Amino acid sequence: MFESLQPMPADAILGLIAEHRDDPRPEKIDLGVGVYRNAAGETPVLDTVKKAERRLLESQTTKAYIGTAGDASFNAAMQDLTFADSAPGDRLVTIQTPGGSGSLRVAAGMLLRAHESVSVWASEPTWANHAPLLGGAGLQLKPYPYYDAERHVIRIDAMLETLRAAPQGDVILLHGCCHNPSGLDPTEDEWQAIVDVVIERELIPFIDIAYQGFARSVDDDPFVIRELAGRVPELVVANSCSKNFGLYRDRVGALSFLTADGATRDVVSSQVNNYVRTLYSVPPDHGAAVVSMILHDPDLRSDWIDEVNEMRDRLADMRVLFNAALVEKTPGRDFSHLVRANGMFCFLGISADQVQRLKKDYGIYMVDSSRINVAGITEDNVGYLSDAIAAVV
Ligand SMILES: Cc1ncc(COP(=O)(O)O)c(C=O)c1O
Repeated sequence: MFESLQPMPADAILGLIAEHRDDPRPEKIDLGVGVYRNAAGETPVLDTVKKAERRLLESQTTKAYIGTAGDASFNAAMQDLTFADSAPGDRLVTIQTPGGSGSLRVAAGMLLRAHESVSVWASEPTWANHAPLLGGAGLQLKPYPYYDAERHVIRIDAMLETLRAAPQGDVILLHGCCHNPSGLDPTEDEWQAIVDVVIERELIPFIDIAYQGFARSVDDDPFVIRELAGRVPELVVANSCSKNFGLYRDRVGALSFLTADGATRDVVSSQVNNYVRTLYSVPPDHGAAVVSMILHDPDLRSDWIDEVNEMRDRLADMRVLFNAALVEKTPGRDFSHLVRANGMFCFLGISADQVQRLKKDYGIYMVDSSRINVAGITEDNVGYLSDAIAAVV
């Protein structure tokens, strides 16, 4: 039967990783792959994760199945990390999911269970996997304007205008912080304006937060979630612990629903548990047990926050360093959006042709849109990188 299948085009990022790996040039730079890297170019296991894993090894007594919702203590910790005290607990339900992607996929299934023909508005552009994950589940996606590629700013007026015309009951997908791919997040005033439109149009906010702690701080980054939680009846939040706990391959995420009342919460809870049972049955345990241990232990939690701060500060430092090098080497060009962006990503703002020349002539790898991961920049390679960019622009 499988003869009927045709091969799929290679995933752009995975293809880039392989090309970079096979490039023999020692000066090569990978700005494509979406993982954090330290100053030595490594993606290390966090110290707090190592400590929690050691304790788990000693204390864990069983690997028996965990329930469809995962670990209750993890779910409580993630609820607290995300919402703090902004949402009434009796209207909230949180489940543990296989990564942020698993969370988004379960959310999609639940939205479709609730409303077969629901549409989801997503930023233009948005994370490359949103359309396959959500659209692949059967949701209809519609774009709202977000990134102005000429001026490197958020098209806030156009975004608000589009949302004001959105049909009541449509879902709006927002990036909680560190918008991927642009790195540009609304200011608090802009978030307030977005929240006002969400309320006015009775839209259902769906927040994807995959970089909590990478923009301003672990506690400041869920700003829009906490604003919404106090003001809207319903809200969906998909968390990922891949980046801020460095647990990429362990697949740790959470999915929360804020519902209009406690009775609806109970129905949503039973539906989502039933849905998970039909999809992957139970989530993986190890990474979530680690996160739970870190978040519940005051010392580990405080050390983890330090580790997140260190990652965030390094990203911000590299943005400043890179921009300063470009100011010097590409006079007349403005790359200042590099320092206005948050988290790992932003667009460099060069053409696909120039991206190809960087790859071919200099061994510098990024996706065709010129989205870069600033975690690939170090004090050692920023000179080579900016020289190469000056040569191609
Ligand atoms: C915007 C966004 N959402 C969700 C995710 C999901 O990450 P994961 O499934 O690895 O937890 C990512 C990862 O790159 C992301 O960038």
